[in-house]
Amino acid sequence: MTARTVAVLLAGGIGVRVGLGVPKQLIKIAGKAIVEHTLEVVNASPVIDEVIIVMNAGAIEQLDSLKDSERFPKLTRIIPGGETRNDSTRAALTVIDEDPDTKVLFHDAVRPFVNERILEDCVDALERYDAVDTAIPSADTIIQIDADSHISGIPNRATLRRGQTPQAFRAGTIRRAYELAAEDDAFHATDDCGVVFTYLPHVPIFVVDGTAENMKVTEPIDVHIADKLFQLQSSSLAADGELPDMSGKVVVVFGGSYGIGKSIVQLASQAGAEVHEFSRSTTGTDVRSRGQVKKALRTVHERTGRIDAVVMTAGILQIGPLAKTKTKQIQTGIETNFLAPVIVARAAHKYLKHTGGQVLLFTSSSHTRGRANYGVYSASKAAVVNLTQSLAEEWSGDSVSINCISPQRTHTPMRTRAFGDEPSETLLSPENVAAVSLQVLDSDLTGQVIAVRVEDVRSRTS
Ligand code: CTP
Repeated sequence: MTARTVAVLLAGGIGVRVGLGVPKQLIKIAGKAIVEHTLEVVNASPVIDEVIIVMNAGAIEQLDSLKDSERFPKLTRIIPGGETRNDSTRAALTVIDEDPDTKVLFHDAVRPFVNERILEDCVDALERYDAVDTAIPSADTIIQIDADSHISGIPNRATLRRGQTPQAFRAGTIRRAYELAAEDDAFHATDDCGVVFTYLPHVPIFVVDGTAENMKVTEPIDVHIADKLFQLQSSSLAADGELPDMSGKVVVVFGGSYGIGKSIVQLASQAGAEVHEFSRSTTGTDVRSRGQVKKALRTVHERTGRIDAVVMTAGILQIGPLAKTKTKQIQTGIETNFLAPVIVARAAHKYLKHTGGQVLLFTSSSHTRGRANYGVYSASKAAVVNLTQSLAEEWSGDSVSINCISPQRTHTPMRTRAFGDEPSETLLSPENVAAVSLQVLDSDLTGQVIAVRVEDVRSRTS
């Protein structure tokens, strides 16, 4: 019988250095706690049979919802961690089966960007070695200092690596190392390979390549970096796929009469979905009116009995210096670009709760930085991003997801009206944006801003 492989997610710490007042493994990024992102990757890996989480005892009940979730069939236990990371490892070893050949991977729960390649390399290497580490080269020169902050040594950088996780072992080996460590009063380590290295010096520890993305969320800045990495990850995910099968799904599109909205209506229908489109020009629906939005959704629901996705593409682009813009125009801009998404998201929630559905909003690439003459437009689009992130957190318990597409310049009537004719190779087509939108609707992403760029689409089609 081949040995089983158990992954242990170490989440027993506090995250003092991040300093956010919650254990850092529970910080929500892209709509989910960091530990949940990590669990998703490990649970989905074909080389892992079982997952155990070792969680900070003071916050362990916060993971109760993961335990019974059908999404994580491999998760068998969530146990309280110890005072130090090594104590948490020990706690895991007490609940792992006795077979010394069992393969055990210890992984920091706060490294959510571990990937399938790394997991496979670790498990494969355990066919040849009893202990395996994951590491990357160091870009920085590592210096050694003494108590007076003087350099005492500069090891050759080529021989240095930065240790990451997973660290993987045959259970018998890591158990033996910890038994020997328990007899040593001077025991000190910060990871598990260190325990094997010190107490079983004859056991070679093989090193597999990690990745720069497999960072550990440690300092406050890492939360921002992780957020950005999730964003990049979802963009490439969205850009890779084919047209998904949407048969049996009911999709509602507000602002579906032209531009991106129209393309989404066409493409979703092609993909097999039943699509209902509402707009000012076709159904007389004003997205700024709560009553009209509610009525539109109610009508669809009465007819179909379900709503799986609500897409909101209606928007207006006004350009000009603020001092010269009429108050009425400003109000219309804010109401259409920001208030309307709020109204649509709020009204859609009760229907999407029953289908585990999704709201899809649209922002603009200007949301990251305001520009002269665009203030009200880009500020409203930035607000849409913030709304997406907030609702992703609020709705995570209801399985309703919400994402936001950020298309670069797109060849739409709205844009042509504002800027006139522009060279077509610098513009996305509405179909490009619609294709990515369907990928996102088909995914389990939430709280994400998915950038669609001309270069990405080019490289995909060339
Ligand atoms: N860890 C653990 N048990 C502990 C301490 C840490 O399982 N008693 C886990 C952390 O939850 C984290 C991983 O080990 O996933 C890496 O540790 P580190 O980054 O040092 O986490 P913290 O101890 O939480 O951070 P800090 O030192 O900033 O408090």
